Amino acid sequence: MRIRRFALTDLPGVMRVERASFGAAGHSSTTFLGHALRDRKHSFVAEDEQGTVVGYTLVRMNLGWLSARRGGITSIAVDPRQRRRGTGGALMARALEYLAEEGVDEADLEVEVNNVAAQSLYEAFGFRRSHLLPNYYGPNCDGMRMVVDVGRANQTRTRDAARAKRAADGRGVRAARRD
Ligand SMILES: CC(C)(COP(=O)(O)OP(=O)(O)OC[C@H]1O[C@@H](n2cnc3c(N)ncnc32)[C@H](O)[C@@H]1OP(=O)(O)O)[C@@H](O)C(=O)NCCC(=O)NCCS
Repeated sequence: MRIRRFALTDLPGVMRVERASFGAAGHSSTTFLGHALRDRKHSFVAEDEQGTVVGYTLVRMNLGWLSARRGGITSIAVDPRQRRRGTGGALMARALEYLAEEGVDEADLEVEVNNVAAQSLYEAFGFRRSHLLPNYYGPNCDGMRMVVDVGRANQTRTRDAARAKRAADGRGVRAARRD
């Protein structure tokens, strides 16, 4: 498995992961097309040994007031058949590495309050709960904002990457690498 930048030709594979992960509530192909054309730099895919897309993440950059550079994770998903193998962690590690390269100090994201898997992933990277977002995902479907100090997240990531590598050695999955 390796992590690389999102290319236009990844669109069908990314949409497959999106539909399998979020169903009709997922992003449209137009959203991903926009990222592929405009913000390719901010988007990453995970591909397996056969070159099949098994996950993706979209990163956002917000230029704040004064000098503060802020960013966040717009979305992350892994093919349901490929989960719990370190792919989500590898994508998150690359996203945070990219945000650090871009000089972002603090990053945030939104997650459904009931999404235990995603919250566990985020907490493993040092994200902490910031505040509740009532009805963020629709009526009676609350969200939560989580934030991370990108510098601290990278330290966490280093430990996580070492753990992922140990797991990969044991499971025959090559450690993820940037493009
Ligand atoms: C969240 C998601 C991206 C994680 O991808 P993944 O490839 O399974 O993640 P990893 O294998 O790298 O797991 C990394 C860590 O995340 C946590 N985690 C992942 N899935 C978990 C689950 N089902 N339950 C509890 N913790 C979980 C664990 O801490 C895990 O480390 P461990 O395996 O050593 O225990 C994946 O579950 C997914 O695509 N979910 C649907 C889409 C989604 O909800 N996206 C987030 C929207 S905000």
